[in-house]
Amino acid sequence: MSLKLNSKYLGSFVSEEALLAIEPEVKKAHSLLNENNANAAGNDFHGWISLPLDYDRDEFARIKQSAKKIMSDSEVLVVIGIGGSYLGARAAIEFVKSKNYNLTTKNAPKIFFVGNSISPTEISEIYSICENCDFSVNVISKSGTTTEPAIAFRVFKGLLEKKYAAEEAASRIYVTTDKAKGTLKSLADRMGYEEFVVPDDVGGRYSVLTAVGLLPIACAGIDIDKLMSGAANAVEKYNIPDISVNDCYKYAAIRNILYRAGKKVEMFVSYEPDFTLMNEWFKQLYGESEGKENKGIFPSSAIYSTDLHSLGQYVQEGERHLFETVFMFNEPKTELIIEADEENVDGLNFLAGKGMSYINRKAFEGTVLAHTDGGVPNIIIEADRMDEENLGEMIYFFEKACAVSGYILGVNPFNQPGVESYKKNMFALLGKPGYEELADALKARLD
Ligand code: PA5
Repeated sequence: MSLKLNSKYLGSFVSEEALLAIEPEVKKAHSLLNENNANAAGNDFHGWISLPLDYDRDEFARIKQSAKKIMSDSEVLVVIGIGGSYLGARAAIEFVKSKNYNLTTKNAPKIFFVGNSISPTEISEIYSICENCDFSVNVISKSGTTTEPAIAFRVFKGLLEKKYAAEEAASRIYVTTDKAKGTLKSLADRMGYEEFVVPDDVGGRYSVLTAVGLLPIACAGIDIDKLMSGAANAVEKYNIPDISVNDCYKYAAIRNILYRAGKKVEMFVSYEPDFTLMNEWFKQLYGESEGKENKGIFPSSAIYSTDLHSLGQYVQEGERHLFETVFMFNEPKTELIIEADEENVDGLNFLAGKGMSYINRKAFEGTVLAHTDGGVPNIIIEADRMDEENLGEMIYFFEKACAVSGYILGVNPFNQPGVESYKKNMFALLGKPGYEELADALKARLD
């Protein structure tokens, strides 16, 4: 079974009439995405739509070759990037392998992600690990100018150049950036680093199926052919402009109906801790795509049953502005059976012979009923396994649903003008040339 949307737990919040009423808006969004319509906001960022079918096969082969080299000569791969140049790769590795990947990997390098914060503690810790082992670096930035990864790259490039002869250091650096412009591109050309391209028409948060995600994912020993094939199968399936057969468009429609009914917060929920980073990826995809012009569903996330013991009270009885999108997988990666105990001191023998996945399922069933009783509609997304094919399909499903949702909401789902505000202020406060006037105004407010 591939992905399936179960709309049984939406309660009275989403009626058949409401779905029928919103269908013309879904169809309009569909045509904005399909006809390369000049009226479609952000239509120069539609490259991800056909990407699983028409990606660059030569580059794909080079990604595999580079992954093979990194796996053979590196105990650690340092992946440097932020936002769309970070989350997708890490989410995929934890989804298919484990959130404890670095503790459990045997035939593939440990992978550390830096450049996604400016914490000196975090960077120093990974720096120390790399001082004592063979490592390579994959620096990823579409613009090639983002501050956080640029700083981290300076640090780890410096360490490579300290540890290895110049030629060897350069051969351990893999750059994923724009095909023609940006500081990183110029540096890569000058130094002769291996280069991969982020296509012009694919924005950061839609780029996990380009070299941005594929190189780190392949280095973790994940089958990127299967990942792309899962996504390729999704292209046609989720292009049918009929919500009675297209779950992706139905999901976009339901979210907008809920939003208009006052459900302004979406919680992405899973019962698998290995899904934690997928939730982060969703939060970026939906938050950056929809949150603009004073509109948009606020994306949030939880892992159950962990967070039922922290957020659970709020979800059950707090402000009624929530809905949940819950991901369920029918087969666990590994099963664990509860054994009988002769003395039964803990009174748990009623579970003897049952698998933990069965208990996890009952936790879901109990929770979905409790939360819907509490006025929190639930959208359920089901899949069989947490594997490459399902992941490829899931990535495509949620990218497409996000674009359709954004167009229904009336925003451009492919820009992120608001992200610039903090950057300008930070540059000014750091004393970057050209920001002097802003620096004076900000300092006056801080003093
Ligand atoms: O989705 C986006 O475009 C952003 O989140 C970017 O991915 C993020 O800001 C990193 O940008 P860059 O890859 O240019 O360093």
